[in-house]
Amino acid sequence: MSQINIIAGTVYGSAQFVAEELAQSLSDAGHNATFYENAELDTVIEGCDTLIVCSSTTGSGDIPDNLSAFYSGLKDGADLANLRFAVVALGDSSYLDSYCGAGHTLHAALEDCGAEPIAAPLEIDACEVDTPEDVALPWVEDLLKL
Ligand SMILES: Cc1cc2nc3c(=O)[nH]c(=O)nc-3n(C[C@H](O)[C@H](O)[C@H](O)COP(=O)(O)O)c2cc1C
Repeated sequence: MSQINIIAGTVYGSAQFVAEELAQSLSDAGHNATFYENAELDTVIEGCDTLIVCSSTTGSGDIPDNLSAFYSGLKDGADLANLRFAVVALGDSSYLDSYCGAGHTLHAALEDCGAEPIAAPLEIDACEVDTPEDVALPWVEDLLKL
């Protein structure tokens, strides 16, 4: 069975909550799904077929600090040719110029490393959605049926 690893970029905890709920829900559905609180690139991709990245955006389109080492590893040219991935991007549409910027940056960096996107990033707007896990869970479950 394929291995699904899940990581979170978060400042206030919402993206991490979504990631943990995803791991639990996918495990309950019979997948091998693991949430990694410490998103060390080498560890996270070891034996992984599908990576789900849940990330909020901070600053002005910036990646949360807890994913900065992961992102640096991508920028250093990791070879992710055998990896599929999807990004759940949490943001706030009142940040007009940088809405969900971190999610889009991470998506592009993963693609640059040769990983295969399963879908375009899922944007979840904090202005409209109080419980992002309710949007993310069905989206990821549908993707994994493909
Ligand atoms: C200081 C600050 C800066 C933010 N900057 C952005 C931004 O540039 N773009 C965006 O889409 N959302 C931005 N947000 C909104 C967060 O990404 C959003 O509230 C998200 O749900 C927070 O998730 P978290 O709890 O995992 O950190 C910002 C929020 C704060 C508090």
